Amino acid sequence: MRLKDKVAIITGGASGIGKSAAERFTREGATVVIADMNPEAIKRTVDEFTEKGFNAIGQVCDVTRREQTQEMAREVVAQAGRIDILVNNAGISRYRPFTEANSEDWDAVLDVDLKGVFFCAQSVAPQMRAQSYGRIVNISSALGTGAAPHGTAGSPGGSSAYAAAKAGVIMLTKTLARELGPDGVTVNCVAPGTFLTPISASSRTPEQVNEHLEYRKKTVVLGRIGTLEELTSAILFFASDDSSYVTGQTMSVDGGRSDRM
Ligand SMILES: NC(=O)c1ccc[n+]([C@@H]2O[C@H](COP(=O)([O-])OP(=O)(O)OC[C@H]3O[C@@H](n4cnc5c(N)ncnc54)[C@H](O)[C@@H]3O)[C@@H](O)[C@H]2O)c1
Repeated sequence: MRLKDKVAIITGGASGIGKSAAERFTREGATVVIADMNPEAIKRTVDEFTEKGFNAIGQVCDVTRREQTQEMAREVVAQAGRIDILVNNAGISRYRPFTEANSEDWDAVLDVDLKGVFFCAQSVAPQMRAQSYGRIVNISSALGTGAAPHGTAGSPGGSSAYAAAKAGVIMLTKTLARELGPDGVTVNCVAPGTFLTPISASSRTPEQVNEHLEYRKKTVVLGRIGTLEELTSAILFFASDDSSYVTGQTMSVDGGRSDRM
């Protein structure tokens, strides 16, 4: 077991990629903290994990609120004694053509997808430093590493705020890695391509979701959509000691997007 006795906070852990990573971590021996802003989904997830015999703690936390991320860190230390791993996974997308996007769209996306990463990392850093041990894994996106086709292939287009936030996560990863590395804390990043989760449908009709998946199958080098298990393997790598001498890095897990290889 690669995460035996580790305590891992996963933001946005009650759905999609975060929930999948949480389940994977518990199978590797970790106690997971499902930190999310959706209390019902937290309860469902914690109940489901507990029934399977996994160690899971629920924590309601809006990552855009610094006092809540600090409270989360305090609560986890009080309940579990330490914080070994933070996966900054909570995220939202709002696609709208650049000329139509308003400042509320911009703030909503930047607040969750970038400021949330900053607040959560800042809230756990003192504990990780005190332990001389920590693993922070940030979730960016293929849209943070290259621009997507606009308004085609089931993509509504207009990912300016999302792409800017996700590119910011990659640079934040590098700067945090430099600041926290001397204290035994690694900071790395995973940039997923297309994976089917609730977020895929948040700005698309069901027909657009299918069109998008078909487009991706045709355009990624590996010719298929990846599984959440394949994605969580990369998250687990950075969260475990398999990556003990790796920091400041971003790994694309996207089947090889041909437009940027
Ligand atoms: N699914 C994909 O294809 C894909 C691709 C690239 C990147 N990503 C990124 O992966 C991450 C997870 O996405 P997903 O596909 O699992 O989406 P999802 O919608 O299934 O899950 C996101 C979770 O984040 C939570 N959340 C949203 N705002 C929050 C806030 N302010 N505070 C705390 N929790 C909040 C939601 O309640 C939800 O449980 C996101 O950062 C997303 O941008 C996803």
